[in-house]
Amino acid sequence: MKLFIDSGNIKDIETLCALGIIDGVTTNPSLLAKEPGDYKENLKKICAIVKGPVSGEVISTEYEGMLQEGREIAKLDEHMVVKLPLTRNGIHACKTLSNDGIRVNVTLVFSAAQALLAAKAGATFVSPFVGRLDDIGQTGMDLIGEIVQIYDNYDFETEVLVASCRNPIHIVDAAKMGADICTCPAVVIDQLFNHPLTNIGLDKFLKDWEKAYPSGK
Ligand code: G3P
Repeated sequence: MKLFIDSGNIKDIETLCALGIIDGVTTNPSLLAKEPGDYKENLKKICAIVKGPVSGEVISTEYEGMLQEGREIAKLDEHMVVKLPLTRNGIHACKTLSNDGIRVNVTLVFSAAQALLAAKAGATFVSPFVGRLDDIGQTGMDLIGEIVQIYDNYDFETEVLVASCRNPIHIVDAAKMGADICTCPAVVIDQLFNHPLTNIGLDKFLKDWEKAYPSGK
């Protein structure tokens, strides 16, 4: 399973990409709006760091506007993926841009029916938001199981990109279900490293070694 960072923060992206475990980046208007500097320049910098798919979202809600913005985003860098919302215009624009060879990530997906439309429209990625479903009392991960099953039934090539991941359980469950990608904020990726027994075990190994080979001897 691929791991993407859901962030527009260059420093966080640099720090995690340096570890060699990051395959791509997703952004959204809320994330990019938080960062200083020109957002297009920031997206180019992110592409240069991650050298993998980087999603940049259109602001327009009209078909023609989505096409124009989408083409501009795609031209920023070969790694750019155009993020479009799951609306009628978004699905229409997804079909047109995908036919032109531009990769599209269909976002704000909250049902299996919507995910089916994204695949039919040739999306490269579909982004179901599990955390936001959890927030309204629905089990977000159930949706991932449904989408994986539907895409497998018909060999759709659209990759299931689990978004709005809020904790390591989302990521492990996504991996068990066979999702293609999880995108998570840096803080959630940091949590993947943690286990108290790792720290306790390492501490003991080092103390035992120090007893046998005291420093300076
Ligand atoms: O980028 C889309 C998604 O990952 C947003 O997550 O936590 O704002 O629901 P969240």
